[in-house]
Amino acid sequence: MKHIMITESAAATRRITSALHNRGFTKPAAYLLILLLSYYLGYLSAILKTPSYDPPYNHPTTATIVNPPPQTTDVDHYQFQTHCVDPIPPQLVRQTILNQIFNGSSPYNDFPQPHIKPLLRRKRIKGWGSTGLVFKKLIEKVKPKTIIEIGTFLGASAIHMAELTQQLGLQTQILCIDDFRGWPGLPSQFRDIKMLNGNIMLLYQFMQNVVQANATETVIFFPFSTGSALEKLCEWGVFADLIEVDAGHDFHSAWSDINRAYKLLRPGGVIFGHDYFTGADSRGVRRAVNMFARVKGLRVKVDGQHWVLDSL
Ligand SMILES: C[S@@+](CC[C@H](N)C(=O)[O-])C[C@H]1O[C@@H](n2cnc3c(N)ncnc32)[C@H](O)[C@@H]1O
Repeated sequence: MKHIMITESAAATRRITSALHNRGFTKPAAYLLILLLSYYLGYLSAILKTPSYDPPYNHPTTATIVNPPPQTTDVDHYQFQTHCVDPIPPQLVRQTILNQIFNGSSPYNDFPQPHIKPLLRRKRIKGWGSTGLVFKKLIEKVKPKTIIEIGTFLGASAIHMAELTQQLGLQTQILCIDDFRGWPGLPSQFRDIKMLNGNIMLLYQFMQNVVQANATETVIFFPFSTGSALEKLCEWGVFADLIEVDAGHDFHSAWSDINRAYKLLRPGGVIFGHDYFTGADSRGVRRAVNMFARVKGLRVKVDGQHWVLDSL
């Protein structure tokens, strides 16, 4: 069938060419004319066949869905809660947290409960770079009334800071933000931290460490995710002179923690964090810190494994 159609169209072309030739067209000119004519007819039939009710968005390519062209309005990465209320006085920080989180009373009251006590070790501390010289240098420099620690684990760095502030005779309140879940895989890495009905005893072992260090009046905690805790502190006007960032170490966690925390920094305060130069960072922390410094026009100072940024 296909063969017959090709033969017929060749014969038709020959007939038209010879007709044009008879009318005074040279053979090449006749062929060119036919070529242009068939091109035009093909184009016309393509237009007529395309239904007008078939808008292009019914046939999106993967690229148009997954990768829309960047918009100048795509600034969400840089937008965190914009306006915190005015800072409350530092002496109200502890009571504000007790009121908002613990119904007004200290969570250390009657701690540990009898059914929890056998699950805890008298003291079980483990940290990472938690006693680096940077803590002493910054506490001596800033003399903070309020410290916010983002990422506390068993309290190694928080308790170290509590000891440093006590040695300097400062009345400092240290507010530890951590969901006290650690990370997936923690129970198999820290088998001596017990689990009760699927609940790892991280929070209670941290509290026990604080009790053991005699620091319950200095160290209070906010046992929620860093994102929601920092947003609430912004709403309640809980600001700090010194903020340590040491929670999630992937870029996005570090980026959002740093952005949210920086809004809570009092003028003259310092924000710093761990793992600028360690394997645990995998460059996520470093990229977030560097990007934040670039956006804000700040200079990153490096102190051992820690990064340090002064407030503007
Ligand atoms: C590296 S440890 C903190 C160590 C501590 N600064 C020290 O040196 O002793 C990180 C902690 O961050 C907490 N964390 C990680 N991501 C978090 C999140 N999104 N919200 C709350 N806590 C988080 C984990 O539960 C863990 O205890």
